[in-house]
Amino acid sequence: MSWWDYGYQITAVGNRTVIVDNNTWNNTHIATVGRAMSSYEDEAYEIMRSLDVDYVLVVFGGVTGYSSDDINKFLWMVRIGGVFPVIKEPDYLVNGEYRVDKGAARKMLNCLMYKLSYYRFDDLTTEFGKPPGYDRARGVETGNKDIKLEYLEEAFTTSNWIVRIYKVKPANNRW
Ligand SMILES: *[C@@H]1O[C@H](CO)[C@@H](O)[C@H](O)[C@H]1NC(C)=O
Ligand SMILES: *[C@@H]1O[C@H](CO)[C@@H](O)[C@H](O)[C@H]1NC(C)=O
Ligand SMILES: *[C@@H]1O[C@H](CO)[C@@H](O)[C@H](O)[C@H]1NC(C)=O
Repeated sequence: MSWWDYGYQITAVGNRTVIVDNNTWNNTHIATVGRAMSSYEDEAYEIMRSLDVDYVLVVFGGVTGYSSDDINKFLWMVRIGGVFPVIKEPDYLVNGEYRVDKGAARKMLNCLMYKLSYYRFDDLTTEFGKPPGYDRARGVETGNKDIKLEYLEEAFTTSNWIVRIYKVKPANNRW
């Protein structure tokens, strides 16, 4: 599972089956992925189980300063996922503002996309003279320190952290 933007490459280059890609005509399907990314981990887990997801891929620019990453696309996932009334855009904003630092909305700081993007990030010094967990794509320090994952585990992260892949734990092996 990834946002639809990467589906074509994952299929063509990675030879893996995807949930959505640029050829997906079923909008409910795309909205379901948006909903999973926008949900807390336990709710996202139920959705991923129903879609038979084994791995989740996110694109993260916080180390390199790459700004076309999933955190910067995330409000679209929230909006599209908003087809489901449980996903409400204002829950991810603070005074109408989109932020990822310690002033960010609780829902933002704990949703699946945030956790998968920033997992272990507060261990990392990305820029001299900045605190650990300094996000170079957004120019702020991450707002959720010490992220714990319960239903997923990190499977692979590229050296520049642009691509991060997580394995969805089997139902009977969560702990
Ligand atoms: C793609 O994956 C399938 C299923 O795992 C495998 O049978 C096939 O050999 C793979 N193709 C390539 C080109 O690696
Ligand atoms: C999906 O993206 C690929 C690569 O950019 C492109 O070749 C293909 O035509 C696109 N498919 C559709 C249905 O837009
Ligand atoms: C569209 O996707 C939804 C959610 O995955 C699914 O429940 C529905 O059956 C799909 N519709 C069609 C016509 O395949």
